[in-house]
Amino acid sequence: MNQPEQWQISGDAAELYERYAVRYILGPWAASLVDAACLAPGDRVLDIACGTGVVTRIAAQRVGSSGKVIGLDLNPAMLAVARSLPTASAAPIEWVQRSALDLGLPDRSIDAVLCQQGLQFFPDQPLALREMHRVLDDGGRISLSVWSSSGIYNTAVGNAVRQFLGDEVAVRFCASRKAPGEAEIRRLALEAGFLDVEVRVIRLEAHLPALDKFVLCHLASTPVASMLAGASAQIRHEIGISVTEQLKHYADADGVTYPEESFLLTGRI
Ligand SMILES: C[S@@+](CC[C@H](N)C(=O)[O-])C[C@H]1O[C@@H](n2cnc3c(N)ncnc32)[C@H](O)[C@@H]1O
Repeated sequence: MNQPEQWQISGDAAELYERYAVRYILGPWAASLVDAACLAPGDRVLDIACGTGVVTRIAAQRVGSSGKVIGLDLNPAMLAVARSLPTASAAPIEWVQRSALDLGLPDRSIDAVLCQQGLQFFPDQPLALREMHRVLDDGGRISLSVWSSSGIYNTAVGNAVRQFLGDEVAVRFCASRKAPGEAEIRRLALEAGFLDVEVRVIRLEAHLPALDKFVLCHLASTPVASMLAGASAQIRHEIGISVTEQLKHYADADGVTYPEESFLLTGRI
Protein backbone atom coordinates (compact mmCIF):
# COMPACT_ATOMS: atom_id res chain seq x y z
CA MET A 1 0.00 0.00 0.00
CA ASN A 2 1.19 3.55 -0.73
CA GLN A 3 2.14 5.25 2.52
CA PRO A 4 1.51 9.00 2.72
CA GLU A 5 4.52 11.31 2.79
CA GLN A 6 5.13 11.97 6.50
CA TRP A 7 6.33 15.52 5.89
CA GLN A 8 9.65 15.24 7.69
CA ILE A 9 12.16 18.10 7.62
CA SER A 10 15.42 18.84 9.41
CA GLY A 11 17.27 21.61 11.32
CA ASP A 12 17.23 24.87 9.38
CA ALA A 13 14.09 23.91 7.48
CA ALA A 14 12.06 23.96 10.71
CA GLU A 15 13.20 27.53 11.43
CA LEU A 16 12.26 28.54 7.90
CA TYR A 17 8.94 26.72 8.36
CA GLU A 18 8.13 28.98 11.32
CA ARG A 19 9.34 32.11 9.48
CA TYR A 20 7.58 31.53 6.14
CA ALA A 21 5.08 28.63 6.16
CA VAL A 22 3.59 29.46 9.57
CA ARG A 23 3.58 33.21 9.16
CA TYR A 24 1.93 33.25 5.74
CA ILE A 25 0.30 29.86 5.10
CA LEU A 26 -0.61 27.96 8.30
CA GLY A 27 -0.75 30.70 10.95
CA PRO A 28 -3.75 32.61 9.56
CA TRP A 29 -5.96 29.52 10.10
CA ALA A 30 -4.89 28.69 13.65
CA ALA A 31 -7.27 30.87 15.66
CA SER A 32 -10.40 29.56 13.89
CA LEU A 33 -9.33 25.94 14.51
CA VAL A 34 -8.88 26.72 18.23
CA ASP A 35 -12.17 28.69 18.36
CA ALA A 36 -14.03 25.64 17.02
CA ALA A 37 -12.89 23.59 20.02
CA CYS A 38 -14.70 25.99 22.42
CA LEU A 39 -11.85 25.90 24.96
CA ALA A 40 -12.54 26.99 28.53
CA PRO A 41 -10.10 28.05 31.26
CA GLY A 42 -8.57 24.98 32.89
CA ASP A 43 -9.04 22.67 29.88
CA ARG A 44 -6.46 19.99 29.07
CA VAL A 45 -5.56 20.29 25.38
CA LEU A 46 -3.59 18.06 23.03
CA ASP A 47 -2.33 19.56 19.73
CA ILE A 48 -1.38 16.63 17.47
CA ALA A 49 1.19 17.21 14.69
CA CYS A 50 1.86 20.55 16.35
CA GLY A 51 4.85 21.46 14.17
CA THR A 52 6.43 24.61 15.60
CA GLY A 53 3.36 25.14 17.80
CA VAL A 54 1.32 27.93 16.22
CA VAL A 55 -1.95 26.29 17.30
CA THR A 56 -0.53 25.04 20.62
CA ARG A 57 0.43 28.53 21.80
CA ILE A 58 -3.00 29.99 20.99
CA ALA A 59 -4.63 27.11 22.90
CA ALA A 60 -2.36 27.81 25.89
CA GLN A 61 -3.55 31.44 25.93
CA ARG A 62 -7.19 30.36 25.81
CA VAL A 63 -7.07 27.83 28.66
CA GLY A 64 -4.95 30.08 30.90
CA SER A 65 -2.61 29.17 33.71
CA SER A 66 -5.02 26.61 35.22
CA GLY A 67 -5.05 24.65 31.96
CA LYS A 68 -2.60 22.14 30.57
CA VAL A 69 -1.43 21.91 26.97
CA ILE A 70 0.58 19.26 25.14
CA GLY A 71 2.13 19.83 21.69
CA LEU A 72 2.93 16.46 20.08
CA ASP A 73 4.85 15.90 16.86
CA LEU A 74 7.01 13.22 15.27
CA ASN A 75 9.66 15.68 14.15
CA PRO A 76 12.44 16.73 16.57
CA ALA A 77 13.48 19.77 14.51
CA MET A 78 9.93 21.17 14.60
CA LEU A 79 9.76 20.60 18.36
CA ALA A 80 13.16 22.26 18.91
CA VAL A 81 11.83 25.44 17.25
CA ALA A 82 8.56 25.13 19.22
CA ARG A 83 10.50 24.94 22.50
CA SER A 84 12.62 27.96 21.58
CA LEU A 85 9.68 30.30 21.01
CA PRO A 86 8.35 32.47 23.84
CA THR A 87 4.90 31.78 25.28
CA ALA A 88 3.05 34.66 26.91
CA SER A 89 1.73 33.98 30.42
CA ALA A 90 -0.62 31.07 29.81
CA ALA A 91 -0.92 27.34 30.44
CA PRO A 92 2.38 25.49 30.62
CA ILE A 93 3.13 23.64 27.37
CA GLU A 94 4.70 20.18 27.33
CA TRP A 95 6.35 19.34 23.97
CA VAL A 96 6.34 15.62 23.18
CA GLN A 97 8.09 13.78 20.35
CA ARG A 98 5.75 10.95 19.48
CA SER A 99 3.55 9.54 16.72
CA ALA A 100 -0.11 10.40 16.32
CA LEU A 101 -0.68 6.65 16.02
CA ASP A 102 0.45 5.98 19.60
CA LEU A 103 -0.19 9.02 21.78
CA GLY A 104 1.15 7.44 24.97
CA LEU A 105 -1.46 9.23 27.11
CA PRO A 106 -3.98 7.65 29.48
CA ASP A 107 -7.59 7.11 28.36
CA ARG A 108 -9.88 10.10 29.07
CA SER A 109 -7.05 12.46 30.05
CA ILE A 110 -7.75 15.32 27.58
CA ASP A 111 -10.64 17.80 27.06
CA ALA A 112 -9.84 18.93 23.51
CA VAL A 113 -7.80 17.45 20.66
CA LEU A 114 -6.58 19.87 17.99
CA CYS A 115 -4.91 18.88 14.73
CA GLN A 116 -4.16 21.46 12.03
CA GLN A 117 -3.07 20.01 8.68
CA GLY A 118 -1.62 16.82 10.14
CA LEU A 119 -4.06 14.00 9.33
CA GLN A 120 -3.00 13.73 5.66
CA PHE A 121 0.49 12.65 6.76
CA PHE A 122 -0.49 9.87 9.15
CA PRO A 123 0.19 6.38 7.76
CA ASP A 124 -2.91 4.93 9.48
CA GLN A 125 -5.65 7.57 9.64
CA PRO A 126 -8.37 5.38 11.23
CA LEU A 127 -5.93 4.48 14.03
CA ALA A 128 -5.02 8.16 14.54
CA LEU A 129 -8.71 9.07 14.91
CA ARG A 130 -9.26 6.19 17.35
CA GLU A 131 -6.31 7.41 19.44
CA MET A 132 -7.79 10.94 19.50
CA HIS A 133 -11.12 9.50 20.65
CA ARG A 134 -9.48 7.25 23.27
CA VAL A 135 -7.68 10.09 25.10
CA LEU A 136 -10.74 12.38 25.26
CA ASP A 137 -12.65 12.64 28.53
CA ASP A 138 -16.42 13.06 28.90
CA GLY A 139 -17.44 16.25 27.09
CA GLY A 140 -14.24 16.11 25.01
CA ARG A 141 -14.06 17.84 21.60
CA ILE A 142 -12.05 17.43 18.43
CA SER A 143 -11.15 20.23 15.99
CA LEU A 144 -9.19 19.11 12.94
CA SER A 145 -8.38 20.62 9.56
CA VAL A 146 -7.19 19.37 6.17
CA TRP A 147 -6.90 21.33 2.93
CA SER A 148 -9.98 20.98 0.71
CA SER A 149 -8.14 21.28 -2.61
CA SER A 150 -4.68 21.60 -4.09
CA GLY A 151 -5.02 25.40 -3.84
CA ILE A 152 -4.03 28.16 -6.23
CA TYR A 153 -0.52 28.82 -4.91
CA ASN A 154 0.40 25.17 -4.25
CA THR A 155 -0.76 24.18 -7.74
CA ALA A 156 1.49 26.86 -9.27
CA VAL A 157 4.47 25.82 -7.14
CA GLY A 158 3.79 22.14 -7.93
CA ASN A 159 3.80 22.96 -11.67
CA ALA A 160 7.09 24.85 -11.42
CA VAL A 161 8.73 22.17 -9.29
CA ARG A 162 7.61 19.47 -11.74
CA GLN A 163 9.00 21.44 -14.69
CA PHE A 164 12.35 22.35 -13.15
CA LEU A 165 13.05 19.68 -10.49
CA GLY A 166 11.08 16.69 -11.78
CA ASP A 167 8.03 14.59 -10.97
CA GLU A 168 9.31 12.96 -7.82
CA VAL A 169 10.08 16.29 -6.15
CA ALA A 170 6.69 17.66 -7.24
CA VAL A 171 4.87 14.67 -5.73
CA ARG A 172 6.68 15.23 -2.43
CA PHE A 173 5.92 18.94 -2.42
CA CYS A 174 2.24 18.37 -3.23
CA ALA A 175 1.75 15.74 -0.47
CA SER A 176 0.40 18.30 2.00
CA ARG A 177 -2.60 18.80 -0.31
CA LYS A 178 -3.25 15.10 -0.88
CA ALA A 179 -5.75 15.01 1.95
CA PRO A 180 -8.85 12.89 2.50
CA GLY A 181 -12.01 14.66 1.30
CA GLU A 182 -15.08 15.83 3.21
CA ALA A 183 -16.94 12.49 3.14
CA GLU A 184 -13.79 10.58 4.07
CA ILE A 185 -12.90 12.67 7.14
CA ARG A 186 -16.52 12.52 8.29
CA ARG A 187 -16.50 8.72 7.89
CA LEU A 188 -13.16 8.40 9.74
CA ALA A 189 -14.46 10.48 12.67
CA LEU A 190 -17.80 8.62 12.87
CA GLU A 191 -16.09 5.21 12.70
CA ALA A 192 -13.73 6.26 15.51
CA GLY A 193 -16.84 6.92 17.65
CA PHE A 194 -17.17 10.72 17.50
CA LEU A 195 -20.66 12.23 17.82
CA ASP A 196 -22.15 15.41 16.31
CA VAL A 197 -19.54 15.33 13.57
CA GLU A 198 -19.64 18.40 11.35
CA VAL A 199 -17.40 19.28 8.45
CA ARG A 200 -17.49 22.83 7.15
CA VAL A 201 -15.48 24.74 4.62
CA ILE A 202 -13.59 27.71 6.00
CA ARG A 203 -12.21 30.36 3.70
CA LEU A 204 -9.77 33.22 3.87
CA GLU A 205 -7.83 35.52 1.57
CA ALA A 206 -4.21 34.40 1.75
CA HIS A 207 -1.52 37.01 1.25
CA LEU A 208 2.06 36.22 0.27
CA PRO A 209 4.93 38.66 -0.30
CA ALA A 210 6.73 38.96 -3.67
CA LEU A 211 6.69 35.41 -5.00
CA ASP A 212 10.07 35.24 -6.76
CA LYS A 213 11.81 35.27 -3.37
CA PHE A 214 9.03 33.87 -1.19
CA VAL A 215 8.61 30.63 -3.11
CA LEU A 216 12.29 29.73 -2.65
CA CYS A 217 12.17 30.44 1.10
CA HIS A 218 8.95 28.44 1.36
CA LEU A 219 10.34 25.45 -0.54
CA ALA A 220 13.40 25.53 1.73
CA SER A 221 11.03 24.98 4.67
CA THR A 222 9.47 21.80 3.24
CA PRO A 223 10.56 18.17 2.76
CA VAL A 224 11.95 19.11 -0.70
CA ALA A 225 14.45 21.57 0.82
CA SER A 226 17.50 19.42 0.02
CA MET A 227 16.40 18.93 -3.61
CA LEU A 228 16.03 22.69 -4.01
CA ALA A 229 19.42 23.30 -2.37
CA GLY A 230 21.03 21.02 -4.99
CA ALA A 231 19.56 23.05 -7.89
CA SER A 232 21.55 25.72 -9.78
CA ALA A 233 20.98 29.45 -9.25
CA GLN A 234 19.42 29.57 -12.73
CA ILE A 235 16.88 26.83 -11.92
CA ARG A 236 15.97 28.54 -8.65
CA HIS A 237 15.50 31.80 -10.52
CA GLU A 238 13.27 30.06 -13.10
CA ILE A 239 11.08 28.55 -10.36
CA GLY A 240 10.53 32.03 -8.87
CA ILE A 241 9.69 33.50 -12.29
CA SER A 242 7.33 30.65 -13.16
CA VAL A 243 5.30 30.91 -9.96
CA THR A 244 5.12 34.72 -10.22
CA GLU A 245 3.88 34.43 -13.80
CA GLN A 246 1.25 31.77 -12.97
CA LEU A 247 -0.18 33.92 -10.16
CA LYS A 248 0.02 37.29 -11.93
CA HIS A 249 -3.79 37.72 -11.84
CA TYR A 250 -3.59 37.77 -8.03
CA ALA A 251 -0.79 40.36 -7.83
CA ASP A 252 -1.26 43.33 -5.52
CA ALA A 253 0.97 46.13 -4.23
CA ASP A 254 3.40 43.91 -2.32
CA GLY A 255 2.85 40.32 -3.46
CA VAL A 256 -0.28 38.28 -4.14
CA THR A 257 -3.66 37.85 -2.46
CA TYR A 258 -5.78 34.85 -3.42
CA PRO A 259 -8.72 32.84 -2.04
CA GLU A 260 -7.91 29.71 -0.05
CA GLU A 261 -10.13 27.14 1.66
CA SER A 262 -9.85 24.26 4.07
CA PHE A 263 -12.13 21.68 5.71
CA LEU A 264 -12.67 22.03 9.44
CA LEU A 265 -14.05 18.98 11.22
CA THR A 266 -15.54 19.20 14.70
CA GLY A 267 -17.07 16.51 16.90
CA ARG A 268 -17.43 15.34 20.48
CA ILE A 269 -17.32 12.08 22.35
C1 LIG B 1 2.23 20.76 7.64
S1 LIG B 1 2.87 20.43 9.22
C2 LIG B 1 1.59 21.15 10.24
C3 LIG B 1 2.15 21.56 11.58
C4 LIG B 1 1.25 22.41 12.47
N1 LIG B 1 0.04 21.72 12.84
C5 LIG B 1 0.97 23.75 11.86
O1 LIG B 1 -0.22 24.09 11.67
O2 LIG B 1 1.92 24.51 11.58
C6 LIG B 1 2.61 18.70 9.45
C7 LIG B 1 3.22 18.15 10.72
O3 LIG B 1 2.80 16.78 10.87
C8 LIG B 1 3.85 16.11 11.54
N2 LIG B 1 3.66 14.66 11.40
C9 LIG B 1 3.70 13.92 10.28
N3 LIG B 1 3.45 12.62 10.54
C10 LIG B 1 3.23 12.54 11.89
C11 LIG B 1 2.90 11.48 12.78
N4 LIG B 1 2.75 10.22 12.34
N5 LIG B 1 2.73 11.75 14.09
C12 LIG B 1 2.88 13.02 14.56
N6 LIG B 1 3.20 14.07 13.76
C13 LIG B 1 3.37 13.84 12.44
C14 LIG B 1 5.10 16.63 10.85
O4 LIG B 1 6.28 16.35 11.60
C15 LIG B 1 4.75 18.12 10.74
O5 LIG B 1 5.23 18.84 11.84
